[in-house]
Amino acid sequence: MDDLKAKYLSQIADAADEAALEAIRVAAVGKKGEVALKMRELGKMTPEERQVMGPKLNALKDEINSALSAKKSALADAALDERLRSEWLDVTLPSRPTRRGSLHPISQVQEEITAIFAEMGFSVAEGPRIDTDWYNFDALNIPGHHPARAEMDTFYMHRDAGDNRPPHVLRTHTSPVQIRSMEKMGAPLRIICPGGVYRADYDQTHTPMFHQVEGLALDKDISMANLKWVLEEFCRSFFEIDDVELRFRASHFPFTEPSAEVDIRCSWDGGALKIGEGDDWMEILGSGMVHPKVIAAGGIDPDVYQGFAFGIGIDRLAMLKYGIPDLRAFFDSDLRWLRHYGFSALDLPTLHGGLSR
Ligand code: PHE
Repeated sequence: MDDLKAKYLSQIADAADEAALEAIRVAAVGKKGEVALKMRELGKMTPEERQVMGPKLNALKDEINSALSAKKSALADAALDERLRSEWLDVTLPSRPTRRGSLHPISQVQEEITAIFAEMGFSVAEGPRIDTDWYNFDALNIPGHHPARAEMDTFYMHRDAGDNRPPHVLRTHTSPVQIRSMEKMGAPLRIICPGGVYRADYDQTHTPMFHQVEGLALDKDISMANLKWVLEEFCRSFFEIDDVELRFRASHFPFTEPSAEVDIRCSWDGGALKIGEGDDWMEILGSGMVHPKVIAAGGIDPDVYQGFAFGIGIDRLAMLKYGIPDLRAFFDSDLRWLRHYGFSALDLPTLHGGLSR
Protein backbone atom coordinates (compact mmCIF):
# COMPACT_ATOMS: atom_id res chain seq x y z
CA MET A 1 0.00 0.00 0.00
CA ASP A 2 2.96 2.28 0.62
CA ASP A 3 4.07 1.55 -2.93
CA LEU A 4 0.64 2.47 -4.26
CA LYS A 5 0.67 5.68 -2.30
CA ALA A 6 4.19 6.64 -3.42
CA LYS A 7 3.40 5.84 -7.05
CA TYR A 8 0.22 7.89 -7.30
CA LEU A 9 1.41 10.84 -5.24
CA SER A 10 4.45 11.25 -7.46
CA GLN A 11 2.35 10.85 -10.64
CA ILE A 12 -0.02 13.53 -9.33
CA ALA A 13 2.88 15.85 -8.55
CA ASP A 14 4.20 15.44 -12.08
CA ALA A 15 0.83 15.81 -13.91
CA ALA A 16 1.18 18.53 -16.54
CA ASP A 17 -2.51 19.35 -17.09
CA GLU A 18 -6.07 18.51 -16.10
CA ALA A 19 -6.38 15.69 -18.63
CA ALA A 20 -3.33 13.89 -17.21
CA LEU A 21 -4.72 14.41 -13.72
CA GLU A 22 -8.05 12.89 -14.72
CA ALA A 23 -6.30 9.80 -16.16
CA ILE A 24 -4.48 9.34 -12.84
CA ARG A 25 -7.75 9.69 -10.91
CA VAL A 26 -9.41 6.99 -13.00
CA ALA A 27 -6.45 4.61 -12.64
CA ALA A 28 -6.14 5.15 -8.89
CA VAL A 29 -9.54 5.81 -7.30
CA GLY A 30 -11.93 5.33 -10.21
CA LYS A 31 -14.59 2.57 -10.07
CA LYS A 32 -12.15 0.08 -11.58
CA GLY A 33 -9.01 1.74 -10.27
CA GLU A 34 -6.32 0.04 -8.27
CA VAL A 35 -7.65 1.17 -4.89
CA ALA A 36 -11.14 -0.07 -5.72
CA LEU A 37 -9.72 -3.46 -6.70
CA LYS A 38 -7.93 -3.63 -3.38
CA MET A 39 -11.17 -2.74 -1.61
CA ARG A 40 -12.84 -5.67 -3.31
CA GLU A 41 -10.24 -7.99 -1.80
CA LEU A 42 -11.45 -7.02 1.70
CA GLY A 43 -14.30 -9.55 1.27
CA LYS A 44 -11.91 -12.47 1.14
CA MET A 45 -10.04 -11.39 4.28
CA THR A 46 -10.51 -12.57 7.86
CA PRO A 47 -12.38 -10.10 10.10
CA GLU A 48 -9.11 -9.28 11.91
CA GLU A 49 -7.28 -8.51 8.65
CA ARG A 50 -10.22 -6.51 7.43
CA GLN A 51 -10.21 -4.37 10.58
CA VAL A 52 -6.65 -3.31 9.85
CA MET A 53 -6.84 -3.08 6.06
CA GLY A 54 -10.25 -1.35 5.74
CA PRO A 55 -9.30 1.90 7.44
CA LYS A 56 -5.89 1.87 5.78
CA LEU A 57 -7.43 1.61 2.31
CA ASN A 58 -9.93 4.34 3.09
CA ALA A 59 -7.14 6.56 4.34
CA LEU A 60 -5.18 5.89 1.16
CA LYS A 61 -8.21 6.77 -0.97
CA ASP A 62 -8.73 10.02 0.93
CA GLU A 63 -5.09 10.95 0.63
CA ILE A 64 -5.03 10.39 -3.11
CA ASN A 65 -8.31 12.34 -3.54
CA SER A 66 -7.05 15.35 -1.64
CA ALA A 67 -3.73 15.30 -3.52
CA LEU A 68 -5.79 15.26 -6.75
CA SER A 69 -7.92 18.25 -5.81
CA ALA A 70 -4.94 20.23 -4.50
CA LYS A 71 -3.11 19.62 -7.76
CA LYS A 72 -6.24 20.51 -9.72
CA SER A 73 -6.55 23.93 -8.16
CA ALA A 74 -2.80 24.49 -8.51
CA LEU A 75 -3.09 23.78 -12.23
CA ALA A 76 -6.07 26.16 -12.51
CA ASP A 77 -4.13 28.91 -10.72
CA ALA A 78 -1.19 28.42 -13.03
CA ALA A 79 -3.45 28.60 -16.07
CA LEU A 80 -5.01 31.83 -14.81
CA ASP A 81 -1.58 33.33 -14.09
CA GLU A 82 -0.53 32.45 -17.60
CA ARG A 83 -3.64 34.11 -19.06
CA LEU A 84 -3.13 37.22 -16.99
CA ARG A 85 0.46 37.40 -18.20
CA SER A 86 -0.52 37.26 -21.87
CA GLU A 87 -3.88 39.11 -21.89
CA TRP A 88 -3.00 42.56 -20.67
CA LEU A 89 -4.23 45.93 -21.72
CA ASP A 90 -2.53 49.31 -21.57
CA VAL A 91 -5.37 51.55 -20.45
CA THR A 92 -3.20 54.63 -20.90
CA LEU A 93 -3.15 54.24 -24.70
CA PRO A 94 -5.31 56.73 -26.64
CA SER A 95 -8.62 55.27 -27.88
CA ARG A 96 -9.01 54.15 -31.48
CA PRO A 97 -10.78 56.73 -33.63
CA THR A 98 -13.64 54.46 -34.70
CA ARG A 99 -16.82 56.52 -35.07
CA ARG A 100 -19.81 54.73 -33.69
CA GLY A 101 -22.63 57.19 -33.16
CA SER A 102 -23.01 60.45 -35.01
CA LEU A 103 -25.18 63.55 -34.79
CA HIS A 104 -28.09 63.66 -37.19
CA PRO A 105 -27.80 66.62 -39.62
CA ILE A 106 -30.94 68.14 -38.07
CA SER A 107 -29.40 68.08 -34.60
CA GLN A 108 -26.19 69.51 -36.03
CA VAL A 109 -27.97 72.34 -37.85
CA GLN A 110 -30.09 73.04 -34.77
CA GLU A 111 -26.87 73.41 -32.73
CA GLU A 112 -25.40 75.70 -35.38
CA ILE A 113 -28.51 77.89 -35.47
CA THR A 114 -28.62 78.10 -31.68
CA ALA A 115 -24.92 79.07 -31.54
CA ILE A 116 -25.45 81.90 -34.02
CA PHE A 117 -28.55 83.37 -32.39
CA ALA A 118 -27.09 82.97 -28.90
CA GLU A 119 -24.30 85.27 -30.00
CA MET A 120 -26.95 87.85 -30.95
CA GLY A 121 -28.58 87.65 -27.53
CA PHE A 122 -31.44 85.25 -28.27
CA SER A 123 -32.22 82.57 -25.69
CA VAL A 124 -33.83 79.21 -26.47
CA ALA A 125 -37.51 78.73 -25.61
CA GLU A 126 -39.59 75.61 -25.89
CA GLY A 127 -43.25 74.67 -26.19
CA PRO A 128 -45.34 71.49 -26.47
CA ARG A 129 -45.68 69.67 -29.77
CA ILE A 130 -49.31 68.93 -28.97
CA ASP A 131 -50.98 72.27 -28.40
CA THR A 132 -54.47 73.71 -28.28
CA ASP A 133 -55.92 75.21 -31.41
CA TRP A 134 -55.98 78.50 -29.51
CA TYR A 135 -52.17 78.67 -29.27
CA ASN A 136 -51.63 77.23 -32.72
CA PHE A 137 -54.25 79.38 -34.50
CA ASP A 138 -56.53 81.84 -32.67
CA ALA A 139 -53.86 83.60 -30.62
CA LEU A 140 -51.89 84.01 -33.85
CA ASN A 141 -54.78 85.84 -35.48
CA ILE A 142 -55.96 82.79 -37.41
CA PRO A 143 -59.67 82.55 -36.47
CA GLY A 144 -61.75 79.43 -37.07
CA HIS A 145 -62.95 80.31 -40.55
CA HIS A 146 -59.51 81.41 -41.78
CA PRO A 147 -58.28 79.61 -44.92
CA ALA A 148 -54.79 79.26 -43.40
CA ARG A 149 -56.18 76.54 -41.13
CA ALA A 150 -57.10 74.44 -44.12
CA GLU A 151 -53.89 75.31 -45.97
CA MET A 152 -51.76 73.93 -43.18
CA ASP A 153 -53.12 70.36 -43.45
CA THR A 154 -53.45 70.16 -39.70
CA PHE A 155 -53.41 66.90 -37.73
CA TYR A 156 -56.19 67.15 -35.15
CA MET A 157 -56.07 64.98 -32.02
CA HIS A 158 -58.96 62.57 -31.61
CA ARG A 159 -61.81 63.76 -29.40
CA ASP A 160 -64.56 61.61 -27.98
CA ALA A 161 -68.14 62.85 -28.38
CA GLY A 162 -68.97 65.02 -25.38
CA ASP A 163 -65.33 65.88 -24.62
CA ASN A 164 -65.48 69.59 -23.81
CA ARG A 165 -61.76 70.25 -23.57
CA PRO A 166 -60.38 72.63 -26.19
CA PRO A 167 -59.40 70.88 -29.43
CA HIS A 168 -55.72 69.90 -29.58
CA VAL A 169 -53.54 69.73 -32.68
CA LEU A 170 -50.04 68.61 -33.52
CA ARG A 171 -48.57 72.09 -33.84
CA THR A 172 -48.30 73.07 -37.49
CA HIS A 173 -45.52 75.58 -36.82
CA THR A 174 -43.36 76.85 -33.96
CA SER A 175 -45.26 80.16 -33.84
CA PRO A 176 -47.43 79.13 -30.83
CA VAL A 177 -44.22 79.38 -28.79
CA GLN A 178 -44.31 83.15 -29.53
CA ILE A 179 -47.49 83.40 -27.45
CA ARG A 180 -46.25 81.08 -24.70
CA SER A 181 -42.98 83.00 -24.39
CA MET A 182 -44.74 86.37 -24.22
CA GLU A 183 -47.04 85.02 -21.50
CA LYS A 184 -44.13 83.60 -19.54
CA MET A 185 -41.49 86.31 -19.93
CA GLY A 186 -43.21 89.50 -21.01
CA ALA A 187 -41.31 92.19 -22.90
CA PRO A 188 -38.65 93.05 -23.92
CA LEU A 189 -38.04 89.61 -25.33
CA ARG A 190 -35.55 87.89 -27.60
CA ILE A 191 -36.05 84.15 -28.13
CA ILE A 192 -35.65 81.42 -30.67
CA CYS A 193 -37.54 78.16 -30.53
CA PRO A 194 -36.26 75.20 -32.52
CA GLY A 195 -38.45 72.10 -32.68
CA GLY A 196 -40.59 69.60 -34.52
CA VAL A 197 -43.80 70.56 -36.31
CA TYR A 198 -46.41 68.52 -38.20
CA ARG A 199 -48.41 68.79 -41.41
CA ALA A 200 -50.13 66.16 -43.53
CA ASP A 201 -47.81 66.39 -46.52
CA TYR A 202 -45.37 63.97 -48.17
CA ASP A 203 -42.98 64.34 -51.13
CA GLN A 204 -39.31 65.04 -51.86
CA THR A 205 -39.31 68.29 -49.89
CA HIS A 206 -42.20 67.65 -47.46
CA THR A 207 -42.55 65.15 -44.61
CA PRO A 208 -45.42 64.92 -42.08
CA MET A 209 -42.96 65.86 -39.33
CA PHE A 210 -40.30 68.47 -39.93
CA HIS A 211 -38.45 71.16 -37.99
CA GLN A 212 -38.61 74.90 -37.70
CA VAL A 213 -36.86 77.51 -35.68
CA GLU A 214 -39.04 80.38 -34.60
CA GLY A 215 -37.52 83.76 -33.77
CA LEU A 216 -39.14 86.59 -31.84
CA ALA A 217 -37.71 89.95 -30.80
CA LEU A 218 -39.88 92.49 -28.97
CA ASP A 219 -38.91 95.90 -27.67
CA LYS A 220 -40.05 99.50 -27.89
CA ASP A 221 -38.22 100.43 -31.07
CA ILE A 222 -37.61 97.28 -33.09
CA SER A 223 -38.16 97.73 -36.82
CA MET A 224 -38.09 95.82 -40.09
CA ALA A 225 -34.50 97.04 -40.52
CA ASN A 226 -33.46 95.04 -37.45
CA LEU A 227 -35.19 91.98 -38.90
CA LYS A 228 -33.27 92.36 -42.15
CA TRP A 229 -29.94 92.74 -40.42
CA VAL A 230 -30.50 89.78 -38.10
CA LEU A 231 -31.51 87.46 -40.94
CA GLU A 232 -28.65 88.55 -43.20
CA GLU A 233 -26.18 88.17 -40.40
CA PHE A 234 -27.63 84.77 -39.63
CA CYS A 235 -27.35 83.53 -43.22
CA ARG A 236 -23.78 84.80 -43.56
CA SER A 237 -22.78 82.89 -40.42
CA PHE A 238 -24.82 79.81 -41.16
CA PHE A 239 -23.71 79.28 -44.76
CA GLU A 240 -20.20 80.47 -43.87
CA ILE A 241 -20.22 82.73 -46.94
CA ASP A 242 -19.62 86.49 -46.71
CA ASP A 243 -21.58 87.60 -49.75
CA VAL A 244 -24.92 85.90 -49.26
CA GLU A 245 -27.70 87.85 -50.88
CA LEU A 246 -31.24 87.77 -49.55
CA ARG A 247 -34.41 88.86 -51.29
CA PHE A 248 -37.29 90.04 -49.14
CA ARG A 249 -40.52 89.34 -50.97
CA ALA A 250 -43.78 90.89 -49.76
CA SER A 251 -46.03 88.13 -48.52
CA HIS A 252 -48.87 87.46 -46.13
CA PHE A 253 -49.13 85.75 -42.76
CA PRO A 254 -52.07 86.40 -40.42
CA PHE A 255 -49.67 86.90 -37.50
CA THR A 256 -47.33 89.47 -39.07
CA GLU A 257 -47.93 92.83 -40.74
CA PRO A 258 -46.10 93.60 -42.94
CA SER A 259 -44.89 90.13 -43.88
CA ALA A 260 -42.00 88.98 -46.00
CA GLU A 261 -40.81 85.70 -47.36
CA VAL A 262 -37.08 85.53 -47.75
CA ASP A 263 -35.22 83.91 -50.61
CA ILE A 264 -31.51 83.27 -50.85
CA ARG A 265 -29.51 83.71 -54.06
CA CYS A 266 -28.21 80.44 -55.43
CA SER A 267 -27.24 78.58 -58.56
CA TRP A 268 -27.91 75.04 -59.72
CA ASP A 269 -24.98 74.82 -62.17
CA GLY A 270 -24.33 71.20 -63.09
CA GLY A 271 -26.98 70.04 -60.67
CA ALA A 272 -24.95 71.18 -57.65
CA LEU A 273 -26.50 73.83 -55.47
CA LYS A 274 -24.30 76.87 -54.70
CA ILE A 275 -25.36 79.52 -52.21
CA GLY A 276 -24.46 83.18 -52.78
CA GLU A 277 -24.10 83.18 -56.57
CA GLY A 278 -26.16 82.56 -59.72
CA ASP A 279 -29.58 83.63 -60.94
CA ASP A 280 -31.88 81.41 -58.88
CA TRP A 281 -33.64 82.12 -55.62
CA MET A 282 -34.57 79.59 -52.96
CA GLU A 283 -37.18 80.35 -50.33
CA ILE A 284 -35.91 79.64 -46.82
CA LEU A 285 -38.15 81.42 -44.34
CA GLY A 286 -41.22 83.48 -43.50
CA SER A 287 -41.05 86.63 -41.40
CA GLY A 288 -42.55 89.99 -40.59
CA MET A 289 -43.46 92.53 -37.93
CA VAL A 290 -45.56 90.85 -35.25
CA HIS A 291 -49.26 91.73 -35.63
CA PRO A 292 -50.56 93.93 -32.77
CA LYS A 293 -53.35 91.39 -32.13
CA VAL A 294 -50.72 88.68 -31.55
CA ILE A 295 -48.78 90.86 -29.11
CA ALA A 296 -52.04 91.55 -27.25
CA ALA A 297 -52.87 87.80 -27.23
CA GLY A 298 -49.51 87.26 -25.53
CA GLY A 299 -50.58 89.68 -22.77
CA ILE A 300 -48.32 92.54 -23.85
CA ASP A 301 -49.42 96.08 -24.74
CA PRO A 302 -49.01 96.50 -28.53
CA ASP A 303 -49.08 100.29 -28.14
CA VAL A 304 -45.82 100.09 -26.19
CA TYR A 305 -44.04 97.10 -27.68
CA GLN A 306 -43.42 95.99 -31.22
CA GLY A 307 -41.06 93.57 -32.88
CA PHE A 308 -40.32 91.04 -35.54
CA ALA A 309 -40.76 87.29 -35.89
CA PHE A 310 -39.52 84.70 -38.33
CA GLY A 311 -39.87 80.98 -38.96
CA ILE A 312 -37.09 79.09 -40.70
CA GLY A 313 -37.26 75.53 -42.01
CA ILE A 314 -34.41 73.69 -40.29
CA ASP A 315 -34.57 70.64 -42.55
CA ARG A 316 -34.55 72.91 -45.59
CA LEU A 317 -31.40 74.65 -44.28
CA ALA A 318 -29.72 71.29 -43.66
CA MET A 319 -30.51 70.14 -47.20
CA LEU A 320 -29.10 73.37 -48.63
CA LYS A 321 -25.94 73.53 -46.56
CA TYR A 322 -24.97 69.88 -46.71
CA GLY A 323 -26.27 69.02 -50.19
CA ILE A 324 -28.87 66.48 -49.09
CA PRO A 325 -31.32 66.01 -51.98
CA ASP A 326 -34.28 64.19 -50.40
CA LEU A 327 -35.94 65.25 -47.16
CA ARG A 328 -37.57 61.85 -46.64
CA ALA A 329 -34.16 60.24 -46.04
CA PHE A 330 -33.85 62.36 -42.87
CA PHE A 331 -36.39 60.13 -41.19
CA ASP A 332 -35.57 56.69 -42.66
CA SER A 333 -33.06 55.78 -39.90
CA ASP A 334 -30.82 54.21 -42.55
CA LEU A 335 -27.47 53.66 -40.80
CA ARG A 336 -25.50 54.06 -44.03
CA TRP A 337 -27.13 57.45 -44.60
CA LEU A 338 -26.50 58.47 -40.99
CA ARG A 339 -22.83 57.49 -41.25
CA HIS A 340 -22.47 59.45 -44.46
CA TYR A 341 -24.28 62.62 -43.41
CA GLY A 342 -23.79 62.42 -39.61
CA PHE A 343 -21.53 64.71 -37.58
CA SER A 344 -19.09 63.97 -34.79
CA ALA A 345 -20.91 64.28 -31.49
CA LEU A 346 -17.82 65.84 -29.91
CA ASP A 347 -17.42 68.87 -32.20
CA LEU A 348 -19.93 71.34 -30.85
CA PRO A 349 -20.48 74.20 -33.29
CA THR A 350 -19.34 77.60 -32.08
CA LEU A 351 -18.86 80.82 -34.01
CA HIS A 352 -15.22 81.21 -32.97
CA GLY A 353 -14.30 77.52 -33.33
CA GLY A 354 -16.13 76.97 -36.62
CA LEU A 355 -19.69 75.85 -37.17
CA SER A 356 -19.26 72.73 -39.25
CA ARG A 357 -15.78 71.27 -39.38
N1 PHE B 1 -45.24 80.16 -38.96
C1 PHE B 1 -44.95 80.43 -40.34
C2 PHE B 1 -45.00 79.12 -41.14
O1 PHE B 1 -44.89 78.07 -40.54
C3 PHE B 1 -43.60 81.05 -40.52
C4 PHE B 1 -43.53 82.43 -39.90
C5 PHE B 1 -43.09 82.58 -38.58
C6 PHE B 1 -43.85 83.55 -40.63
C7 PHE B 1 -43.01 83.84 -38.01
C8 PHE B 1 -43.76 84.79 -40.07
C9 PHE B 1 -43.34 84.93 -38.79
O2 PHE B 1 -45.13 79.10 -42.32
